[in-house]
Amino acid sequence: MSDFTSFLRSGVFLLLAVQTQFSPALGQPIDQPITVGSNPLRFTLQTASSATVLAVTDDGSLVTIREGAAPGYRNQTSEWMTRQISAGRNRLTAPVMGGFPMLSAQLETRFHDGTRGIRLRYRSHEVLNASEVPELRISLEEEQGSLGVTLHFRVYPEWDLVERWARIENRSERTVVIEKAASSSLVLPRDEYDLVHLTGRWGQEFNVERTALTGGSKVLEVRGMRFHHLSPWYLVRPSGDDDEEAGRVWFGALAWSGNWKLEFEKTPEGELQIVGGINSWDTEWTLGAGQSFETPVLVTGFCEQGPGGASRRMHHFIRRHILPIKARGEIRPVLYNSWYATTFGVSEEQQVALARTAKQIGVELFVMDDGWFKGRKDDHAGLGDWTPDEEKFPRGLNPMISAINEMEMDFGLWVEPEMVNPDSDLYRAHPDWALQTPGLKPLESRNQLVLNFARDEVRDYTATWLNKLLSENSIKFVKWDFNRDLAEVDWTGASPETARELRIRYVKNLYSVYQGLRKDFPSLLLEGCAGGGGRVDLGTLSYVDQVWTSDNTNPSDRIFIQYGFSQAYPANTMVSWTTDDDWRNARPSLEYRFRVAMAGVLGIGNDLRDWGEEEIEIAKREVARYKEIRHLVQWGDLYRLVSPIESDRSALIYVAEDRSDAVVFMYNLQDPLLGTRSATRESTQVILRGLDPDADYRFSLDSEGVYSGATLMTNGLDWLPRGDYQARMVRLERVAE
Ligand code: GLA
Repeated sequence: MSDFTSFLRSGVFLLLAVQTQFSPALGQPIDQPITVGSNPLRFTLQTASSATVLAVTDDGSLVTIREGAAPGYRNQTSEWMTRQISAGRNRLTAPVMGGFPMLSAQLETRFHDGTRGIRLRYRSHEVLNASEVPELRISLEEEQGSLGVTLHFRVYPEWDLVERWARIENRSERTVVIEKAASSSLVLPRDEYDLVHLTGRWGQEFNVERTALTGGSKVLEVRGMRFHHLSPWYLVRPSGDDDEEAGRVWFGALAWSGNWKLEFEKTPEGELQIVGGINSWDTEWTLGAGQSFETPVLVTGFCEQGPGGASRRMHHFIRRHILPIKARGEIRPVLYNSWYATTFGVSEEQQVALARTAKQIGVELFVMDDGWFKGRKDDHAGLGDWTPDEEKFPRGLNPMISAINEMEMDFGLWVEPEMVNPDSDLYRAHPDWALQTPGLKPLESRNQLVLNFARDEVRDYTATWLNKLLSENSIKFVKWDFNRDLAEVDWTGASPETARELRIRYVKNLYSVYQGLRKDFPSLLLEGCAGGGGRVDLGTLSYVDQVWTSDNTNPSDRIFIQYGFSQAYPANTMVSWTTDDDWRNARPSLEYRFRVAMAGVLGIGNDLRDWGEEEIEIAKREVARYKEIRHLVQWGDLYRLVSPIESDRSALIYVAEDRSDAVVFMYNLQDPLLGTRSATRESTQVILRGLDPDADYRFSLDSEGVYSGATLMTNGLDWLPRGDYQARMVRLERVAE
């Protein structure tokens, strides 16, 4: 048994972890988030509640000593550290192909002569504590100097997060092929762990799943570009812990909108290795002499406030660091989208008529969805030809947009730039631009093919038509859709090396078009969509302001979908509409639809032509209420109070950062059916969280009264909804002393 294992088994480690008090959750400043110790050389990344400790062994390997809570690690003696290093000798921070395969490799390469084994040695490091975000760079080099690998760590102490990525440089004189380059590898202390992650399918995205990480490995991977079925986010916690707001949790998310992979493997020592990054399946990257490759970022975090604490940290981080700068501080407008009302049958007169009612109920942004461009009668034709359909819009789009602007609403448009219908001028001119396997009949889905976005001419064509469309029309918002996955990923005419890079080049070119749009149209609002929530990740969120969560707008399903979405992503990115759809035949009221949609970025998609006075009045009232509380939803701290997975109800509270203001949403799915369950099973109270215990709060909206934060967080608030599919909202405002 190694020294490290015997130390763990002695129980000293557990005692240390249990006894130590950690810094409070958010906002804890750390003087020196990155410190470097000598003899032996070691690096500590310190956040409010976690520490990552790395060290250099006497033979120059970089090893991981600790991930997560590490009380006092910074102050340990050199002797103690030396002991840990010799115990952790196999725990390479950047495991590679070569040496004993104790850990899954982060990096696998192939040299021109077919050699695969490499050995990385520490060469130098750089600490950028003074930069806006403190960063540690550790430079490793292949022992014979043929490859340089720089590991980057950017530390966000107040959010307990570290951004990790790697840069690989070919320092040889010949070509080197990268067979795998993950963003990072972590090793968690020896324990029994469960993995919490998000699964689903089209129309049912973001289901929360929990599974035991038993011996062996669990892999979450996406081979295509759409991922309704998985989200590049994870949370790992000791088996048996199930408190929403307490307990040690390790979590992370990947900033890559293509082929990604997260691996969780129990090591023979009982530790847990997590490797995350681009999926190496069907992908290689060739580096010429002197060239380098940079991986996307894997964001990792640790806290002791359970999944609730992990979500809030991710929300803060995404809102303040990931989202495009313009969108960070802006309230998202209430939008109307015509899709559910009109599908492909759009016209100027009809859209303007819809806009009039939309204006009446308080909509700020009017969006015309699919159906507006050349030949787009249904989903059989048109994708690729991005000019207004002359039959539907003989005067172009501008007269309609002006009419909408005159009503003091902004105008937005739907596009699907990565796609082409075989029945389009674009496909007739450039059939080779669509992904397909030579000799095989192209595999269509929704009658469309995917453009090979890895081709620079496709990227340039797309940037050009988008630029023209947005320059010639007063368009303030674009909904960018992606309605089918890649299937036949062949690239006729490219060299075999370039063809193997297709999946990565595709994502890079996609990002570059987004980037161009953001640069040329700084006030544009961009919404990401992939047949619902099929492409939500930190990469997408760094270019778009918000995402369409799911094509399923049924409010009871949405309660689950939004609950799952909130684990990883913040409410100011989660677009949620009221529509007339009723997938469950449950006939939820319009008010209920609004209350569910209001927990995110509110939109309306009903066919307003069918609405009478009553619906218009309800909508007016609910939109006005939303405008009063949306700063809390979009910027506040979320506490999930009641999980819909555990009961037939759900409750959320969004609390202003200074705790002066909050809004509670309470939803009934079904009231318990008499005789099927105990009448006492459902609580008559909901315990609130996140308030100031010493403050008094005045209620408004669906309740009245003044109560102290302490009372509300111990005794709770009355459960107000009565009956199936009922929802209640309570606003809490701190009473001035
Ligand atoms: C996808 C989107 C919908 C709508 C249609 C239009 O399904 O998710 O919201 O835009 O495409 O074709």
